[in-house]
Amino acid sequence: MKPENTDTELDVKPDEQHILIDHSYDGIQELNHPLPSWWNVIFWGAIAYSTGYFVYYQFLDGPTLREEFNKDFAVISAAQLEFKKANQLFRPELYAAVANAEGIKKGKEVYELNCLPCHSDNGRGDVGPNLTDKHWVKARGTPETIYDVVYNGSEENGMPVWSEMISKDEIYQAVAYVSSLRHTFQKGKAPEGELIEE
Ligand code: HEC
Repeated sequence: MKPENTDTELDVKPDEQHILIDHSYDGIQELNHPLPSWWNVIFWGAIAYSTGYFVYYQFLDGPTLREEFNKDFAVISAAQLEFKKANQLFRPELYAAVANAEGIKKGKEVYELNCLPCHSDNGRGDVGPNLTDKHWVKARGTPETIYDVVYNGSEENGMPVWSEMISKDEIYQAVAYVSSLRHTFQKGKAPEGELIEE
């Protein structure tokens, strides 16, 4: 049925005649423009994608949130371990940078703040061994072995794990200070451990 209102019909462009909907309400007529193809592609694409997504994660072997978390976490843990291992290794060049008067001075501050309660002033020993003699319980007197004990601690025997409490720089400084105390033979705790002559 053709619209009755001829005035309205005049407003419709000739090339839009074919999309004119065959009704008129109070003289108002409508054109039925088809949805743009890009819109259709997105709409049907989203439905297709979400169907596949749902089936994969719900019924096939798509990982659960927890499994994905565990996978990511394993990657992070491995990286952390790598980082820890890299720091755990004594780096001679980092030690060389603080093995001087200024580094030793800073190391003394670190020592007095953290180590003094157990190793007493000037490393003469108290709860912890005397650090000024030729005897060593855990370390071997070299900066490398001192670093190892300070970094990793000796928790079962009461020496804290300092890598969890002070920075790596502070550890190197403390090692420089402790090394400077070597063979200063402070009066204090009796020698313990193995005699290391070099
Ligand atoms: C809570 C007490 C305590 C504190 C604080 C402490 N230590 Fe110790 N330290 C110990 C004990 C106990 C040992 C002996 C560990 C063992 O027998 O395995 C030790 C061992 C050591 C050794 C090895 C000595 C050896 O004869 O092999 C070094 C070096 C050392 N400490 C340096 C430090 C430094 C540097 C600090 C501060 C950053 C520090 N300690 C803070 C208790 C402590």
